[in-house]
Amino acid sequence: IFEVRLASSGAVYLIPPDETVISALAKHGIDIPSSCEQGICGTCITRVIDGVPDHRDLFLTEEERAGNDQFTPCCSRAKTRTLVLDL
Ligand code: FES
Repeated sequence: IFEVRLASSGAVYLIPPDETVISALAKHGIDIPSSCEQGICGTCITRVIDGVPDHRDLFLTEEERAGNDQFTPCCSRAKTRTLVLDL
């Protein structure tokens, strides 16, 4: 389990192990554009301001992953307790 904090509002949302970030945030009315939901298309890429993503997509390059400043919320998760997103 990890949590996502929105930079704009400061609101914090828990992301259960069996739910994606996109799906968990959608339940609170926060909609992130998505398409493939499988980490292939890159549509859902979201900027990460703090925390370390656990990249599970096939879209970002190794270099982009290592930057820790963006991730694909349709499938990727977090290595840190909190991810602060530019939302
Ligand atoms: Fe396609 Fe996330 S929706 S990579």
